[in-house]
Amino acid sequence: MRINKYIASSGLCSRRKADELIANGNVKVNGASMREPGYDVKEQDKVEVNGKLIQVNSKMEYLVINKPLGVVTTVSDDRDRETVMDIVKDVDARLFPVGRLDYNTSGLLIMTNDGDLAYRLTHPKHNIYKTYIAEVAGVLSDAKVNKLRNGVDIGGFVTSPAKVKVIKGTKSTSVVEISIHEGKNRQVRKMFKAVGNPVLSLERVAIGDLKLGRLKEGGYRKLKHEEVEYLKTI
Ligand code: URA
Repeated sequence: MRINKYIASSGLCSRRKADELIANGNVKVNGASMREPGYDVKEQDKVEVNGKLIQVNSKMEYLVINKPLGVVTTVSDDRDRETVMDIVKDVDARLFPVGRLDYNTSGLLIMTNDGDLAYRLTHPKHNIYKTYIAEVAGVLSDAKVNKLRNGVDIGGFVTSPAKVKVIKGTKSTSVVEISIHEGKNRQVRKMFKAVGNPVLSLERVAIGDLKLGRLKEGGYRKLKHEEVEYLKTI
């Protein structure tokens, strides 16, 4: 396996970041500095990054979890709150979350030990739509829907075109499906705030065509082979 892929598949970083580490002289093979990005790692090779031996997961794991509210999307929390790692603690692999959902957002989150896939899914250049169901305060007029669709200023950043559909509306609240392909911090909340309809609850229901479906809150399942293959192509 090429050395950048080998390092990425340990879950340490993306393939591109691995290339940087190699170019910057942070990588050693069998004790000697290795700066050849095309080096093919042999079975018996010992690869170190910044002096730490790389353990490659021969087995990639891909899970989808339904993150409940009040759970932090992080590998460890310095305030000792429940994290997404607690949900998958009986899985025998060093998983990490792909991207993040806010503490107060529930829904679909992928967890894997495949650094390469994680990088693909989170890099903005790939334009992967993530779909949310938001319950927001007030009535969302057609004018506001159009603003959200065309792009709103969320504080020094104008959002790219979004897909927006009002599913249900009463005098006091609206339920909206919104798909965005950027991942600015608290973006959906900021977008609705920008048009004067603050979010009351938020759930992610899809990443691309991968849907949360009936997975219960706090539950997880392994992704099917074809779902993993799909994610690798989007
Ligand atoms: N947008 C938000 O505002 N919060 C999330 O958790 C995800 C997207």
